Amino acid sequence: MPEPLAPEPLVPEPATPEPLVTVVGVGADGWAGLPGPSREALLTAGVVVGSERQLALLGGAVGAERVPWPTPLLPALQGILQSHRGSGLVVLASGDPMFFGIGASIVRRLGPAAVRVLPHPSAVSLACARLGWPVQDVDVVSLVGRPLETIHPAVQPGRRLLVLVSDADGAAEISSLLRERGYGPSAVTVLEQLGGPAERVVRGTAATAATAHAPHDPLAVLAIECVAEPATVPLPRSPGLPDDEFDSDGQLTKREVRAVSIAALAPVPGQLLWDVGAGSGSVGIEWMRTHPACRAVAIEPRADRRERIARNARTLGVPALTIVDGAAPAALRGLPAPDAIFVGGGVSGAGVLDACVAALRPGGRLVANAVTVQAEGVLAAWHARLGGTLVRIAIQRAAPVGSFTGWRPALPVTQWSYLR
Ligand SMILES: C[S@@+](CC[C@H](N)C(=O)[O-])C[C@H]1O[C@@H](n2cnc3c(N)ncnc32)[C@H](O)[C@@H]1O
Repeated sequence: MPEPLAPEPLVPEPATPEPLVTVVGVGADGWAGLPGPSREALLTAGVVVGSERQLALLGGAVGAERVPWPTPLLPALQGILQSHRGSGLVVLASGDPMFFGIGASIVRRLGPAAVRVLPHPSAVSLACARLGWPVQDVDVVSLVGRPLETIHPAVQPGRRLLVLVSDADGAAEISSLLRERGYGPSAVTVLEQLGGPAERVVRGTAATAATAHAPHDPLAVLAIECVAEPATVPLPRSPGLPDDEFDSDGQLTKREVRAVSIAALAPVPGQLLWDVGAGSGSVGIEWMRTHPACRAVAIEPRADRRERIARNARTLGVPALTIVDGAAPAALRGLPAPDAIFVGGGVSGAGVLDACVAALRPGGRLVANAVTVQAEGVLAAWHARLGGTLVRIAIQRAAPVGSFTGWRPALPVTQWSYLR
């Protein structure tokens, strides 16, 4: 009989089971809204840890010692878990503890077998209930601890978004970003204190939100129905954005070659790309736009280009792109292992392709582009040595020739792609 396929536990289970930590999701209605098992856990707890707001929601119902989270929380988490674990520890979380919540951070540290999670409806479930939106048709973006621009790839005509925000200016800031991107007619609804006695729902559009919604209660979800102005051209998540969406000093893998290169790199959700000699950052940026879980490192020795890459990453909605100062192969040392590597220029640099090939794990992809005869020779030699695919991409764009139109050729690109 084959072994059943089970997800690998993040932390090995200990030989002697340690006391469980219980994580209880609590809503804005506090004790009154808690189901029986969550109340039972709190009534039998020795210590209850939570934010000041969450602890206050319990009122006088719970007799356990109350410990407020320190700020910042994450560096202190392990120590707090260790010191109170043996005393019947219950941790409070807002809504569903496994949805952008402390539950996930605790499970990462202790392993799933050591944690009992008692969820409450999440802010997304409550918002969808109020709006009549099917949860599965909504894109969720959390801006808690993340830059505002993270929202860009999700803004697409006709899409419904729920945005988690961490302060009272969320609606005004997002509305101004929507207007700037040509999405001013979008409906923006602020849903405050969902499930609690102070619940409030305020409807408006991105055009009115700055006045209608500002400032709102900081415990709020924004519901956005994206409506583009007639002249707005959508920016899809699929690679091959127009070249002028990127600020560039000419160091840009052009649209058609970029689309072919990223197709060969084969972005898979959650995987990591090294963009070696990133120039304007377009390949790493478009790799990350394909899925919110995709990650990329742009390696670039020139400071002006690194600044430009950071700007492009923000404008195109992937501010989490990591930018590394340095040149390959030296700058590659110590980087997290990649799933795919793109070398857009500098393939003839000493040791560059050797280091890239060596960094690939089984299943990893390498795509290297060349425009000079010398670089093409390097790729041909690697192709002869390791196999893979060698293609030549010749693009011609229609352009005016006097009063007529002719084909203006770009320098042909030789591309070697290799699957380890
Ligand atoms: C770190 S996330 C945690 C989400 C939580 N685990 C859940 O399931 O809803 C915190 C954000 O969720 C949203 N949120 C949580 N509870 C809410 C409520 N009762 N009403 C409105 N928004 C809420 C706010 O945007 C808040 O900044």
